[in-house]
Amino acid sequence: MKLAPLTPLDDAICVIDQTRLPFTCAKLTLAKLEACAQAIETMQVRGAPLIGATAAFGIALAMRTDASDAALEQAVARLARTRPTAVNLHWALARMATHLRPVPPALRAAAAWTEALAVHAGDIAANLALGQHGARLLSQAASTLARPLRVMTHCNAGALATCGWGTALAPVYVAQQQGIAVEVWVSETRPRNQGLLTAWELAEAGVPHTLIADNAAGHLMRQGLVDIVITGADRIAANGDTANKVGTYLKALAAREHGIPFYIAAPTSTVDAHCPTGDAIPIEARSADEVQVLHGLDDAGQAASLRIFSGACANPAFDVTPAALITGIFTEHGLHTPARITESLQR
Ligand code: MRU
Repeated sequence: MKLAPLTPLDDAICVIDQTRLPFTCAKLTLAKLEACAQAIETMQVRGAPLIGATAAFGIALAMRTDASDAALEQAVARLARTRPTAVNLHWALARMATHLRPVPPALRAAAAWTEALAVHAGDIAANLALGQHGARLLSQAASTLARPLRVMTHCNAGALATCGWGTALAPVYVAQQQGIAVEVWVSETRPRNQGLLTAWELAEAGVPHTLIADNAAGHLMRQGLVDIVITGADRIAANGDTANKVGTYLKALAAREHGIPFYIAAPTSTVDAHCPTGDAIPIEARSADEVQVLHGLDDAGQAASLRIFSGACANPAFDVTPAALITGIFTEHGLHTPARITESLQR
């Protein structure tokens, strides 16, 4: 997998500015805690696992300026305020803080960088492993068909949302390497259109795909044009209820109605054993501007915005899919029954 959304440098990290995709693939160098925090807030970096890794490097960069106990706690608090729903952020911050608190301040900067590198490498390894588990399922499903397997996904849970491989798209990429014919239905994912990121990275990887308006998903399922739905997750509660980008729930409902299996793919850093059910997952409310203003290119190929509405808007960025609608959850450890996710991970 060639696409690397976050590359550690000697004294900074280099990330792809996702607010400029799919039109321009621009890189940003983040060398300070505050730059990492702002990149997460503005969604220049986004996707649960990538947010977690960026936060880990944010702590490591902060320790290079001031490695005191107070600076460590301030860095954790600053990053924890950036985005509320993806638990990978809090997982990474807790991992960094737990690792660094016993380390003497003189040694903290080096220890922090090593730990952030481990978070980064661990995410790539976890995603590849869950991709291999998922690809076995895709291979089985494809073997019964005389045409390519049709997978539907929502938002971007590909390489761009992680340190590599992606979550929902990792099984697709592994299947592609194994020569299994897969086509992807990519839903646009209003209001921020992360589906365009998915289409961009599938095009880069040479995976056949088709972009659809979110509202077309039920129609395609009813016509028998979808074999399986796979999405990522921002937080999986202890009972298997799963928060993901808003619109995921509607896809799960439609998939249930049409007997289509609906899977979640996520590393275990997305499982929140302290969160009993989906009702306890904080759902990010984002700016009305995201619903009211469209961004794209004008006829001259220049970046342009278009206001389509000025009235009242609500913009919940995530929704919760109840465990009962989820056929299974892939993690790096294999396939789990949603309602038993926590006990199966403890074994
Ligand atoms: O608001 P975003 O773009 O950060 O939301 C991303 C998603 O909802 C993804 O589906 C989720 O983080 C899984 S990423 C592998």
